[in-house]
This record gives sequence, structure tokens and C-alpha cells, in this order.
Amino acid sequence: RTVYLNGEYLPETEAKVSIFDRSFLMADGVYEVTSVLEGKLIDFDGHLARLERSLNELDMEKPEAFDDLLEIHRKLVELNDIDEGMIYLQVSRGSAGDRDFVFPDPEVVKPTLVLFTQSKPGLANNPVAQKGLKVISIEDIRWGRRDIKTVQLLYPSMGKMAAKKAGCDDAWLVEDGHVTEGTSNNAYIVKGGTIITRDLSSDILHGITRAAVLRFAREAQMTVEERPFTIEEAQGADEAFVTSASTFVMPVVEIDGAKVGAGEPGPVAKRLREIYLEESI
Ligand code: PDD
Repeated sequence: RTVYLNGEYLPETEAKVSIFDRSFLMADGVYEVTSVLEGKLIDFDGHLARLERSLNELDMEKPEAFDDLLEIHRKLVELNDIDEGMIYLQVSRGSAGDRDFVFPDPEVVKPTLVLFTQSKPGLANNPVAQKGLKVISIEDIRWGRRDIKTVQLLYPSMGKMAAKKAGCDDAWLVEDGHVTEGTSNNAYIVKGGTIITRDLSSDILHGITRAAVLRFAREAQMTVEERPFTIEEAQGADEAFVTSASTFVMPVVEIDGAKVGAGEPGPVAKRLREIYLEESI
């Protein structure tokens, strides 16, 4: 695989980052995941805009190549012959050559920019979408700025592991009795034809797929309500689903052992998945 590191396209084995890099020592880095379908980037502009916002919120310098990011994404797709898959991008505050809680002087220390591709054949026709996901709920104990897409992913990883251990696929995070989001996706329920998903705040990541799906839903005259909901409400809903750049729209059929609706992917989630794939490619 050919990857990108600070201005260079390199074989993955030759791309080296300092052991003092702040993303490694302090999780002082932000990232984006953009999907690729039919060799095309999906929702690139949204991901770029969110990256810029994450950098701003953390007072992190834009990498020098910021304005070339579209070109770099396209070049990596081409070099790695990606038809279906993902591009992972990470910006860290760089390495000051030592460990220090204080941010290094941005005049001296430049950000580290890394991009690599992941080929995922069958991403659009994912058989999991036919079956749906089983989720468990766990307490959301992440930090309070979940709107910033940082690389602090230990708790979401632990959530996925807890789900796996319980024979499930993913976990929904719950704070003050209400679902915030999934470990790596935004969460939705459907009741009486209304699509319900938590409103945007620093409690959740402002999903790029979420924005597109809600726009398509409204364009298709579906009713959308942006508000928090509980696990009990979700278990009693007609349907549930999640969205993310890596799963698009993915039905959820079971929550904490209780079937949602008929325990099968519902018509709204199926329709939204179709619309999203049709409109985005
Ligand atoms: N995760 N919420 C969280 C906590 C996420 O990590 C993600 C994305 C989303 C969905 O955002 P978007 O639609 O912009 O992908 C919501 C990515 C895919 C990941 O970590 O792999």
C-alpha cells in the first residue's frame, strides 16, 4: 500500500513518525474517514469542513498541504486502485522532540499529516445491511467535546469489545438516561414514520453522513425530529439505525436483547440507505 506522510507518497513500511509525536503521547490529533465508492470520494467537502473545524477548536495549525487534500485523496485512490473502501486522514500537533503537556510553538513544530487507504470490497452491498446490527447500551463516559473528531478512541474501542463479548455488533452510549450516539456512528429511531435523532451539540460528533441523510429524508417529505431519546423509547420504536462514513445507513434490529419492531431491518432505514447510496456516488 502507498500512503501519504507530510508531503510524500511512500510504501507503508517506509512511512515513519517520531515516537514523540503528540498524537502518540497525548492523543493530540484529529482525524477523518472518507468513504470511496466506485473510485469516488463520498461527502468529501463535509469531511474537509469538519477537519478544519476540529483543528480550529483545538488551536491546531492547518497542515501545509491543507488546500491540496482533495488532490491527495484522489491520488491515493488511484495509486492504491481503490474501488470501494476508505481513506483515513490524521493530523497531529506534531513532535517537539520531547514529552510536554504544553503545546509546542506552532512556528517551530509543524503538524504531522498522514493519510492511508483501506480497500473494502462490498462496502455498498454490505450483507450486514440485510441482517441489521444488534447493539448493547453502555454508559457514555467520554470527555465533553465529542464534536471534535479526536483520536481518543479508547472508550469507543472498549465499547465495541463489550458488545462483541455480549455477542452483539456495537454499543450505544447513554448519558443522563439518553442515547448520545454509537461508538463510531450516529444513532436514530423511527416511530410512526418520524425519524428521531439527537440534536447537535458538543455531546455528539456532527456526522457528515447524518447531515446528508437528514437532508435526503426531508427532501423525501419524511418528518425529522432532532431530540434525545432513551433506550426504552428506542426498544419500543418501529425501527432503529445508525449512520457513518464507513457504514452509510445501517439498520439496528436489537437493543439490549429486545427486538426493535419486527427484529428486522425496517423500510425507512432501507429506503434511506438506498437514497444515500444513489445520491452520494
Ligand atoms: N466514525 N459518531 C462518532 C463517535 C463517530 O466516530 C463517527 C464516525 C460518527 C459518524 O460520523 P460520519 O458520518 O461523519 O462518519 C458519529 C468514523 C467512521 C470512524 O471512527 O471510523
